[in-house]
Parts: sequence; C-alpha cells; structure tokens
Amino acid sequence: MKRWLSYVKPYKLYFILGPLLMIVEVIGEVLMPMFLGLILNEASAGTLNTQKCILFIVYMILTAIMMMVGGVGGAYFGTKASVNYAADVRRDVYKKVQKFSFANIDKFSTGSLVTRLTNDITQIQNFIMTLLRMCMRSPGMFIGALIMAINLRPQLSWIFAVSVPILAVVIALIIKTAFPRFGIMQNKMDKLNSTVQESVTNVRVVKSFVREDYEVKKFTAANSDLKNSGISAIKVMILTGPFMTLFMNITIAAIIWFGAHQVMGITDTMAPGDLSQFITYANQILHSLMMLSMMFMMSSRAMASAKRISEILDEKVDISDENATFKEKTVTHGNIEFKDVTFRYYKNSDDSVLEKINLTIPAGKTVGIIGSTGCGKTTLVSLIPRLYDTDSGEVLVDGVNVKDYSLKNLREGVGMVLQNNVLFSGTIQDNLRWGDENATMEEIISAADSAQADSFIKSFKDGYDTELEQGGVNVSGGQKQRLCIARALLKKPKILILDDSTSAVDTATEAKIRKEFKTGLKDSTKIIIAQRIMSVMEADMIVVMNDGEITGIGTHDELMQTNTEYREIYASQMESNQKEA
Ligand SMILES: Nc1ncnc2c1ncn2[C@@H]1O[C@H](COP(=O)(O)OP(=O)(O)OP(=O)(O)O)[C@@H](O)[C@H]1O
Ligand SMILES: [Mg+2]
Repeated sequence: MKRWLSYVKPYKLYFILGPLLMIVEVIGEVLMPMFLGLILNEASAGTLNTQKCILFIVYMILTAIMMMVGGVGGAYFGTKASVNYAADVRRDVYKKVQKFSFANIDKFSTGSLVTRLTNDITQIQNFIMTLLRMCMRSPGMFIGALIMAINLRPQLSWIFAVSVPILAVVIALIIKTAFPRFGIMQNKMDKLNSTVQESVTNVRVVKSFVREDYEVKKFTAANSDLKNSGISAIKVMILTGPFMTLFMNITIAAIIWFGAHQVMGITDTMAPGDLSQFITYANQILHSLMMLSMMFMMSSRAMASAKRISEILDEKVDISDENATFKEKTVTHGNIEFKDVTFRYYKNSDDSVLEKINLTIPAGKTVGIIGSTGCGKTTLVSLIPRLYDTDSGEVLVDGVNVKDYSLKNLREGVGMVLQNNVLFSGTIQDNLRWGDENATMEEIISAADSAQADSFIKSFKDGYDTELEQGGVNVSGGQKQRLCIARALLKKPKILILDDSTSAVDTATEAKIRKEFKTGLKDSTKIIIAQRIMSVMEADMIVVMNDGEITGIGTHDELMQTNTEYREIYASQMESNQKEA
C-alpha cells in the first residue's frame, strides 16, 4: 500500500482538488430537488408569483453553474491525477524490467510483461479516475440526501432503515460473486495477450510453416475463453441493473403509498412538493449505493492488476553490482579464468548445465569452443559478461571476480555477439552506434569493413542510412550476423565473444573476418564458438565441450592426436564436405 501511496505524492494537489470539486457538484445535486420542492409547494398552496418564480430560477441557474464548475473541475483534476499516476507507475515498471537479468526475464513471459505494462496499469488508472470522482460523490450524495430526507420528513424516513440494509446485503453478495470472476477474466486476458504477442511477433515463422490455421485456432480458443469468462463476470453485473431498478421502484412505491396517505391528510399532513423532493432524495440514496457497488467492483479488478504489477516491482534483480568492490576498474587486458565453475538454470534441479569448469584463457589469444549442441557453450561464455551468475566457483577477468566489476565497465570490456542476435528498427548506422555512440563515420566504416559488411552496406541505395525494420528482417541472415559483429567490434572490446556468429556466412567471407580479427584485434581476447571445425582450426587454443564439461583443450594438431571426440567431429565434417564436393 505504501508503494501505491508514494505515487500520489507528486500529484497531491490534483488528488485533493478532484474529489473536493466533486463535493461541490454533489452539494448542487442535493440542493436542486429542494428548490423544485419549494416551487411545487408554493404552487400548490397558491402563493407562487412571478417574482418568486424568477428568484427560484436564478437560484437554480446559479446552482447549475456551480455544479458544472464542480463537475468539470473534478473530472479535469481526476483525469490529470490518474493519468500522471499511471505514467509514473509505468515508467518505474519499465525501468525495473530494463534492470532485469536474463534469469529474471526467463521467469516472466514477454507477453505477460507487456500486458502488465499496458493493460494492468490502465486498469489502475481507470480505477483511480473513478475513485477520485466517486469517493466523495457517492458517500457525499448518500449522506447528503439522507440528511436532507430525514430533515424533510422524519415520518417517512423509516423506509430507508428497511431498504438500505437489504440493498447493502444484496450488493455485497453480488460483489462476492463477481470478485473471483473478474480475477479469472484477467488471467484469460493475459493468456490471450501472450498468444497474440507470440504469433504476431513471429508471424514470419508461422507463415513459413503454414501454421496460420493452427495459430488462428489457438487464438480462437484463448479468445473464447476470455469471452466466456467475461460473460460470466458481466452477467452478474447485468443482472445487477434490473434488480436495482426493481428494488428502487418498490422503495419508491412504498414512499408514494405512505407519503400519499400523508399528503391526503389521512395519517399526517404533507405538502405535495415535499413528497416529490423526498422521492428525488430516495432516488439519490439508492443510486449512490449502486455507484459505490460499481466502485467496489472496479477495485477488485484494480487489486488484481496491482498485485501483478507488484510482482514485477518486487522481483529481486539477481544480478547487480551493488556489492562490487572495484567499481572503477575496467577490463584492461582480457585474461579470463574459470575456477571450479558450476551452473544450473533451474536452481532446484539436480543436473547442472556446467560442472566444475576450470579454464584459463590468456589475454590476446584466440580461443575456439566446439561441442555438440546443448552441451553448454553459450552458457559458459554468458558467465563472462555476467549475463548469468555462477552457482559455485568463480569467473575472473584480469584476475578480478566479474562480480567485483561494475556491470557497465565489465560489459563495456566484453563484446558479445549473441547466438540469436537482433537488430533494432532504425538505420544501419544507428544500429552500429550501439557499440559506440560517439564513433566517427570512419570508425563505423572500419568496423563494418572488418566484419565484411561494408561492401554490402554500400551496395544498398541509402548505404549506412538504410532503414532496418524491426528485428532486422530486411537484411539476409548472413548480413545480419555481419552487422552484429560490426556492432560488437565498434566497442573495441578487450574480450570479444562470437557465439556461432558466422554460421550464416559463407566460408570464404568467414575466413576474411577471421583474418581481420587476427590483424585488427591483436590485443583482444577472442572467443569463437562454432559448429564448423574450419572456423576454429587456426585458433591458439580449442576447447572441446561435452555435456557441460570440458573434455579437451589444445591446438588443432594436439587435439587431433589426443582427443577422440574432436577427431570424430573432424572426421564427420570432412566426410560431409567430401560428399558435398
Ligand atoms: N535460458 C535457459 N533456461 C533454461 N535452460 C536453458 C536456457 N538456455 C539453455 N538452457 C539449457 O542449458 C543447456 C546448455 O545450453 P547452451 O545454450 O549453453 O548450449 P550450447 O552448447 O550453446 O548449444 P548450441 O550449440 O545449440 O548453441 C541446454 O540443455 C539447454 O536446454
Ligand atoms: Mg549456443
């Protein structure tokens, strides 16, 4: 609760003015029937004259103007308060998501993160808007109208003592039924959004596998789930309306019955204007109760959303540099050492992905990593820029535990081309500048040239200003990989990691890239993960991995002598090469 209140602070004034102005409107609303009643009474007593008539009309117009000012002002400040509030929450949730580590992101689905950032925050915004409009208005109108009614006609007010409790109980029952139904609806909405998010983002894959029908079916199922849960929740709401109207009419019939007896002078004496005024108050009282029930209903939805947003804000970011001891230190040489490193993605699982890894990579060397798919190559290198943290053991860069660097300095020193890398919408130049915001055009071209990207970029009509679409879909797979390499090169990292980053590049071009690394990045440590032995054959050192363990370290020639697994991979690749030839 404290968290949610803290967002009110900057907009305190709006949060106060909104409801206050709504009170002004309520006062008008309660006064209006009084004027009407008085006119009617004067008329039925035969004492109404033009002068009085004008006076009443002036009062009523003034009241109406006051109501309008209150209503418009209340709505204005209410809207301002709620929109600002929601924007601030959204900003913080977004910031938090940006701080998330890979492990944190693995926990929430992208679809659910998007739903929480949009739909859930909108729910809260709508609730606050309603709350600010209603929190004073409904109780204000309820109390105001009740006081006026009792004051006007205590002899009739006992009717409220009967009808209000009955109505309150019924409303409570309705809310109790609707509460869980709205919760279910929210979850279905989440599912629908996840489905839409996944299939729309990956619409190209869907199309290439001709899975449109399947996706439509999946969507239809999620959609009808949402529809059904929506109907079940709204059914309760829809039933509420007619029931309330019936109940109101019964109450009013009762008032007319007993009131008429008083007007007719049978049980008491009462002016007809008073009866009409009393009926209006009765309407207002019952109506305000109905609005209160609506507010509760909305609050149940907002609570569910607030809980989902809190889950993000409360999520512990498991990789941070708060306790780093050498915050100022930067990566200067590029020595890497793994000491007894063990790692698992699911902390409660028995099987570890990496088991007691020991590996030393001297600065400036080129290291190849090879091994069957799923053996843990990507996982191993992810530990260097601290995309994940080790479970036990340590990773040292230049002799310092990676946990002791500031994340900024560490990641600045380590350039990593991820296996599933993406480009962002924007020009090619913008994308390359991710590596170095302040790079000169010469530096950009030189990096692109080293990555063998310059020539194809120049062949585009707009060259470096070519607009890339979201995810870089308008360049080929191999071109995308080369752009990603160029982007990493611009960082001039002390450690460069290429995770299967030339898999879509032809062997001749790949050889050129390797040559560039040798000459251009002489001092940097280069780690190259590859499927093809060709890609790592010339490395100073090749690491062979199998099922989370290192089974061999050496040069190509050494491994050919000593490592059966390496020999087998080599033989199978040579064989397939010959077949192709
Ligand atoms: N984010 C993740 N969450 C849970 N498990 C994961 C995650 N990433 C990888 N794994 C699992 O960890 C193991 C090692 O995966 P890793 O990506 O390191 O393999 P790899 O050697 O890079 O394979 P490839 O050659 O196919 O890229 C695999 O069994 C994989 O299923
Ligand atoms: Mg991998």
